[in-house]
Amino acid sequence: MVPDSIRINPSVLAADFVNMQAEVGRIAAADFVHVDVMDNHFVPNLTFGPQMVERIQATSPVPLDVHLMITDADRWAPGYAELGAASVTFHLEAATDPVSLARRLRQIGARAGVAVKPATGVEGLYDVLDEFDQILVMTVEPGFGGQSFMADQMPKLARLHDEARRRGSQVWLQVDGGISESTIAQAAEAGADTFVAGSAVFGADDPARAIEALRSLAGSAHRH
Ligand code: DX5
Ligand code: ZN
Repeated sequence: MVPDSIRINPSVLAADFVNMQAEVGRIAAADFVHVDVMDNHFVPNLTFGPQMVERIQATSPVPLDVHLMITDADRWAPGYAELGAASVTFHLEAATDPVSLARRLRQIGARAGVAVKPATGVEGLYDVLDEFDQILVMTVEPGFGGQSFMADQMPKLARLHDEARRRGSQVWLQVDGGISESTIAQAAEAGADTFVAGSAVFGADDPARAIEALRSLAGSAHRH
């Protein structure tokens, strides 16, 4: 049985940008569409900004999970909540006041997420878990799709999971980078419940089947 707490969020970074409307139409079986915003400063790659995100929002069959890989998150993140994204995740490394920013995002009506790069610890978040709706543990260096899953992030994720459960927190634990049918079980075993997959979904001949395969593998491996 697949628990309803498993979420599969395909990343449009692996989609054909010129046919975005058709591409998001292929992932109606997903929970959220993951939208990677990159500014060529926080990461060495550039995607798009609020105008494109708003167009994706207008055509997507599922709600938006925006992942901001941009500097000066305090200044820019609220705009993505204002345009109607269901969740907005900023990087801990890029925010001056993560708790105030998360409160602001919630006030606007979005789920507030915070992401950490592979070298960043999560211990500092333990006392403020309730300020966030989701925590994203990156399983690659942010910036590009198609990289290899970093299994060395699993102990950090498992500690975060156990700490969150111990404190009675309902925070969602997300992983992003290198998630495929061969890696998703490891992340689920370590406690992730929300899975971003770019190439594994948009690179598949049948994205709906790929989403269900990932969902079922994660469901059987999930750490409770
Ligand atoms: C990487 C992005 C990811 C990326 C994942 O910086 O945040 O969302 O699209 O791509 P895959 O699943 O191909 O590793
Ligand atoms: Zn992402």
